[in-house]
Amino acid sequence: MKSQKKIVFITGVAGFIGFHLASFLIKRGDYVIGCDNFNNYYSPNLKKKRAAHLRSLGVDVIEQDIQTLMSLPENVSHVVHLAAQAGVRYSITHPQPYADSNLDGFLKVLECCRHTPNVKLIFASSSSVYGGNTKTPFSETDPTDSPVSLYAATKKAGELMAKSYHHLYGIPMTGLRFFTVYGPWGRPDMAYFSFAEKILKGEAIPVFNQGKMERDFTYIDDIIQGTVKALDHCQGFEIYNLGNNQPEPLMHLIKLLETHLGKKAVLDFLPMQKGDVKTTFADIQKASSAFGYAPTTSLDEGIGNFSLWFLNQSSILTP
Ligand SMILES: NC(=O)c1ccc[n+]([C@@H]2O[C@H](COP(=O)([O-])OP(=O)(O)OC[C@H]3O[C@@H](n4cnc5c(N)ncnc54)[C@H](O)[C@@H]3O)[C@@H](O)[C@H]2O)c1
Repeated sequence: MKSQKKIVFITGVAGFIGFHLASFLIKRGDYVIGCDNFNNYYSPNLKKKRAAHLRSLGVDVIEQDIQTLMSLPENVSHVVHLAAQAGVRYSITHPQPYADSNLDGFLKVLECCRHTPNVKLIFASSSSVYGGNTKTPFSETDPTDSPVSLYAATKKAGELMAKSYHHLYGIPMTGLRFFTVYGPWGRPDMAYFSFAEKILKGEAIPVFNQGKMERDFTYIDDIIQGTVKALDHCQGFEIYNLGNNQPEPLMHLIKLLETHLGKKAVLDFLPMQKGDVKTTFADIQKASSAFGYAPTTSLDEGIGNFSLWFLNQSSILTP
């Protein structure tokens, strides 16, 4: 089905997911405008390269902090709110940016939506809201009131703030709980990316909980497919898992990186870190039934694509 042309405002457009989403939407014919504050949580140079690429495709990229947003650009039909302070471990050492961007920043986005007629909001949540739940796979109906990091707490708070604005003002909203997204143009703070850097440099990689961890790694193209379907389908207030429905042992990820980068890893086995969870595993039935979400990329294929990109892009990875 061909969708109607939309005017989409993306917050965090120079981030990993924002970059891929904006590229996809502009190529299918939507008008795309986005903002990003280009903060230095990880390489601003990488964010600037993403933004330059987006501008070359015709995306309107503005440098702005969401905490200063007063209104949305004219005639916006959809907001995809991705800007956030991400990272579980960083939230233990640097709590303030999580309150600033994920709570106050999100409130500014909600206020802008409230004053924009007929706008729909799609916002990023996270698998981290499931905390240390041991029942798998994680379903949207499972309890999410025991976060094990401040990052997770702010993501859960965001879902509740959004729900109150939906209740008060009737804005159609969809929250997406992303599960460990990876791929080309990815985030240097995430394990698969920093492992790749260390493997190539011959440095030891920290393997927490002696490697006894599993993640439901989800390839970026699958996440974009799900996010676009959610955007086209947005109505009422719903929360969906977007994962791969296939938890993979951390040691398998390392083996695949070794294979695709062509170099052995040096492993430094360490205890479990505060804020981490042992397993993530998405039940994707709800998104599958509602809008046909169906991830198709295996970890082998996805890490192969990432490694190919990574081996060719070392010049953009300097801070
Ligand atoms: N990548 C994942 O595995 C994953 C998993 C779960 C949830 N998420 C969520 O998805 C969203 C996108 O994640 P990502 O991986 O693209 O992260 P990212 O850090 O690459 O992208 C976020 C972007 O937002 C920008 N930003 C941060 N605070 C801002 C502010 N106050 N004003 C304007 N811009 C700001 C950053 O500069 C960055 O470019 C985030 O909300 C994140 O919490 C991501």
